[in-house]
Formats: sequence, C-alpha cells, structure tokens
Amino acid sequence: MNESIRIVEVGARDGLQNEKSVITFQQRYEFLTRLMATGIKAIEVGSCVSAKWVPQMANSDELYAQLPKQDDISLSLLTPNLKGFEAALQVKCQEIAVFTAASESFTQKNINCSIQESLERFQDIMQQAKQHNIRVRGYVSCMVDCPYEGAISPQKVAEVAKTLYDMGCYEVSLGETIGTATPLRVRAVWKECLELLPKEALAGHFHDTYGMAITNIYESIQQGIRSFDSSISGLGGCPYAKGASGNVATEDVYYLVSQMGFDTGIQLEKLMAAADYIAEVLHRPNPSKFAQAYKQKLCTV
Ligand code: HMG
Ligand code: MG
Repeated sequence: MNESIRIVEVGARDGLQNEKSVITFQQRYEFLTRLMATGIKAIEVGSCVSAKWVPQMANSDELYAQLPKQDDISLSLLTPNLKGFEAALQVKCQEIAVFTAASESFTQKNINCSIQESLERFQDIMQQAKQHNIRVRGYVSCMVDCPYEGAISPQKVAEVAKTLYDMGCYEVSLGETIGTATPLRVRAVWKECLELLPKEALAGHFHDTYGMAITNIYESIQQGIRSFDSSISGLGGCPYAKGASGNVATEDVYYLVSQMGFDTGIQLEKLMAAADYIAEVLHRPNPSKFAQAYKQKLCTV
C-alpha cells in the first residue's frame, strides 16, 4: 500500500472568503456537497467570524448544520475566539481551527489583537473543545513573509507553532499567506519547526501568488511533511493580505503527489466536476495548469 498525503480542502473557506461576487448560501452548499463527493477527507466549511469583517463567510455555522455528515469526512469551521467557538459548538461541529500568525502586524489586521492575546483566547477554546471532544487544528500565518513586516524569522514561526501544539492542536498548518516563498526559505522554516514538533503534527498551506506553491510543496514533502491545504480551482486569498492570490490548486497537488506515488483518496472525475461547478458559479476559468491540460486531453493520467 502506498503512503498517503492528506489534503485539507480549503476552497469553500479560504477561497470564497475573498470573493468579490456574492455567492449564495445555496451555492456554497452545492459546492460543499460536490467537494464531499471527491474523496477528500478533510474540508473546511467556512468561518465563524464577524460578518462585518468577512461578509462572505456569514452563516457558516448554519451551512455546517445543513450539510449531510459522513463518518469518514471531517468538516471544520474556523473560530478566532470563544464567540466563534460557541457558534460551532451550537451546530455540533466536530472539528474547528484556531488561527494566529508569526507576525504581530498581520495578527492585528486579521483578528484585531496581538499574538499573545490570540493565544490567550485560544486557551479558553482549547479547554472547552477538550470538554466536548472537538478536534482543534491550528494555523500560523506568515510562515515566510508578512504583507506588513516583510521577512519573518523561522524561529518565531516555530515558537508559535509549538505553542499551538502544546495547547492541544492535533496539527498546525503553516500559512504561506502571500505566496512569496521559495523552497530554500521554506526548508529553513521546516528545519526550525521539526526541531520542536513531530512531522505528523505539521501541515503546509501555500498560496500561489508567485507561482511557487507546488515547488514549495515538493520541498516540504522532501522535508517529511505529509499534510497540505489546497483550494480546488486555485480559489483563495486573505482579505487582510492585499494582492495575495489563491491557494495552490487541489488539482495540481493531486497531480504532483499521485505522480510521486502517494495516495490521496481523490477521485479525479469528481474533483473535476466540483471544479467545473465553482468555475461556472464564479464565471471564471480554472487557473490550474493540470485541470486545463486534463480537460484538453493534453496529458494522460
Ligand atoms: P473585534 O471587533 O475585535 O471583536 O473582532 P470584538 O470582540 O470587539 O466584537 C466586536 C463585534 O464583533 C461584536 O458585535 C461581536 O459580537 C462581534 P457588535 O456588538 O459590534 O454587533 N464578534 C463576532 N461575530 C461573529 N463571530 C465571531 C465574533 N467575535 C466578535 N467570532 C474578530 C475580532 C476576530 C471577530 C474579527 O477580527 C474578525 O472577524 N476577523 C476576521 C478574521 C478572518 O476571518 N480572516 C480570514 C481568515 S484567516 C486566513 O485567511 C489565513 C489562513 O488562510 C492561513 C494563511 O493563508 O496564512 C488561515
Ligand atoms: Mg490562506
């Protein structure tokens, strides 16, 4: 049996949170049910954040409540504070994600507090999550660069990741928020993190602004990382990282890792069907090179 790579599909959250066009509740629901049919086992549904800050993610708790549940698919919600956590708890969500950063300025812009304050908020969430048997994933944004401060030290990234892990996050995903990283810088960050955390507790979340995301994933695999976030059709960006483009496309990650001999559980035709659906809703061509080539039958897989 082949070794597996875990893919966490973030298109319905990271992707849609940044969309200018209005996507209806029903379209988000339809998109998510198509994602659930792809074979991907971890899917972010949305965020329980202020609708004044991120209107695109309004009613994510209700969306979670309405989705059909499957034992083998983990559906999660992002929660920045106790209020968000309580919304997730209300709809019996089994997995949540807390998010902070290795940059003070980004944390202020994103969640309106310092890194330390964010970690203090998470203490309350972790305590309640444990009580209710809810799995918690952690995010550390700005793993390489911050849109406000520039380069971030790998030591700082590792320190914040370790704090989240020690608090009880089963996995910490490092966000390459603005997509400027290149492999040698990514390697330096993993080196620091792997001194403090087991590789099984780390994941990579690469945006593709400079077209380096898939290369950075290849480098991360060389360093032992086996869990990656991606967005179908390369959707995504962060409302607090101006100019940052979408996440690496799930289709491209699928092609890379399956050609390297890893299992993902993904059914390609279903993946392409979900990608077509969202491209049609957004009136936008799919930027994934693999998806384009596959549809034109330029390659065989
Ligand atoms: P705040 O204004 O400091 O919060 O916002 P507050 O506690 O002072 O409350 C102000 C108002 O917000 C109150 O309502 C609260 O009830 C409400 P009012 O009395 O004015 O009507 N409120 C909430 N409403 C809904 N859900 C909540 C909540 N909390 C307070 N959870 C807050 C703090 C965190 C809420 C705000 O800054 C926020 O919503 N930020 C949005 C953060 C976000 O979603 N960012 C994008 C996701 S992170 C990301 O994309 C990066 C990642 O992909 C990795 C990477 O790429 O690097 C993960
Ligand atoms: Mg992101």
